[in-house]
Amino acid sequence: MIKTKVKKYMVGRFTMKGFYHIITYGCQMNEHDSERLAGQLRELGYSSIDDYTKADIIILNTCCVRENAELKVFGKIGELKALKRKKPDLIIGIAGCMMQQENVVEELLKKYPHVDLIFGTHNIHQLGDLVRKVIEKRKRIVEVWDEGRELIPELPSERKSPFQAWVSIILGCNNFCTYCIVPYVRGRERSRPMEDIIREVKRLVADGVIEITLLGQNVNSYGKDFKNCKVGFADLLKELDKIEGLKRIRYMTSHPRDFSDKLIETIRDSKKVCEHFHLPMQSGSSRILKKMNRGYTQESYLELIRKIREAVPEASITTDFIVGFPGETEEDFAETLKVVEMVEFDAAYTFMYSPRSGTPAAKFEDQISEEVKKERLQRLMELQAEKSLKKNKKLEGQIVEVLVEGESKSNPERFQGRTRTNKLVLFDKKDEDLTGKLVNIRINRAQSWNLYGEIVKGFRVL
Ligand code: SAH
Ligand code: SF4
Ligand code: F3S
Repeated sequence: MIKTKVKKYMVGRFTMKGFYHIITYGCQMNEHDSERLAGQLRELGYSSIDDYTKADIIILNTCCVRENAELKVFGKIGELKALKRKKPDLIIGIAGCMMQQENVVEELLKKYPHVDLIFGTHNIHQLGDLVRKVIEKRKRIVEVWDEGRELIPELPSERKSPFQAWVSIILGCNNFCTYCIVPYVRGRERSRPMEDIIREVKRLVADGVIEITLLGQNVNSYGKDFKNCKVGFADLLKELDKIEGLKRIRYMTSHPRDFSDKLIETIRDSKKVCEHFHLPMQSGSSRILKKMNRGYTQESYLELIRKIREAVPEASITTDFIVGFPGETEEDFAETLKVVEMVEFDAAYTFMYSPRSGTPAAKFEDQISEEVKKERLQRLMELQAEKSLKKNKKLEGQIVEVLVEGESKSNPERFQGRTRTNKLVLFDKKDEDLTGKLVNIRINRAQSWNLYGEIVKGFRVL
């Protein structure tokens, strides 16, 4: 965490000085929102603390994409009850996607009286005012807008890394995949003006950032909501590629339906856009893809992969799959396995279908049993692990560029970092702290999810 001085602020009769702790669930959008929640708390006079039992304000930034994400949050809120009893002045705030669901807010209000503040995904910029209100009025505050009334303004941010940053380019989603809750909790697509994004990236680069990740539920939709729709995602990438000092551009997530030839060419011709394509396929069966409302077929997805590999042969391709979508037969699932066999993805995130109330698929009649889902997930994971290992083995002996992120989480004797293709690389530490540097690493050993290597002397890039 980048350290900042703790300031004191007078709020009515109160001086805010103390510690905050934020727990984030879910995707990168939430991680990024949490950085801006942290930034606002810092401006109020709070500083961050790792031990949440010592915090004066605790915020849970929640996710509801699958049921287990929600269960974890409810478990944590329950756990905080005892702490609140011991520390009655503790402020507990619950934010994020779960708060956009009325039934969840009602349940919190009824069963969890120790929660002081509830606010939604469209209200994150109001945190400062909301905390002030909780303190001043000494009562519970709920602020949840149904839709984003405006683009969230630029906010103070407490970034986790001095050299990597997330940049939001489009909020919301218009796709309404039949299994997915996201469009209901994040609202409709709203793109940020290109000038604002470029200005933000230039400022980040001036601050020492060398890698950015552009965020959106479907980054390929960027600009479609602009009047006259003059610029799109490819144009944005072209502009960002020109920024001096910036070394790597990543983005997530892109929808396979909207991945145009122009975009592939732009990525092929750019220097900074990384050779990593995350293209969530969800199912290999065209019949299931139709029921999911994904807007592509197995054939068109495979054609997209072919075009990408032709243009960018060194590309790594990763994906997401859902198993056990309502009505998925053994034959449909076999199509998923067939695609995994054919495409040889570098990695796949695999999920069991989780019915989300309010989405069309939750009402489909032919729901699949948990046992079948578990068994299919197991088979899919095993096959993918084999494919990931096969792909990674090809890198043994090669020299790759790695952005060093810091000490390895599992072994402090090692550094960890990522290749441009987003693979995790571990290598032994020497005396020098290489955090934030781009280095060349020779890969000695490959596993399904990690690569091990050594620094190549005389080949330091930065
Ligand atoms: N916008 C992105 C991803 C959003 S959610 C996209 O379109 O791909 C991240 C992943 O969660 C999805 O790709 C999907 O695989 C999974 N997911 C979403 N809803 C789900 C559900 N109801 N059950 C299981 N997995 C789900
Ligand atoms: Fe959900 Fe589909 Fe939108 Fe992704 S594109 S967020 S899966 S509705
Ligand atoms: Fe979860 Fe919300 Fe992200 S539902 S996956 S945190 S957009």
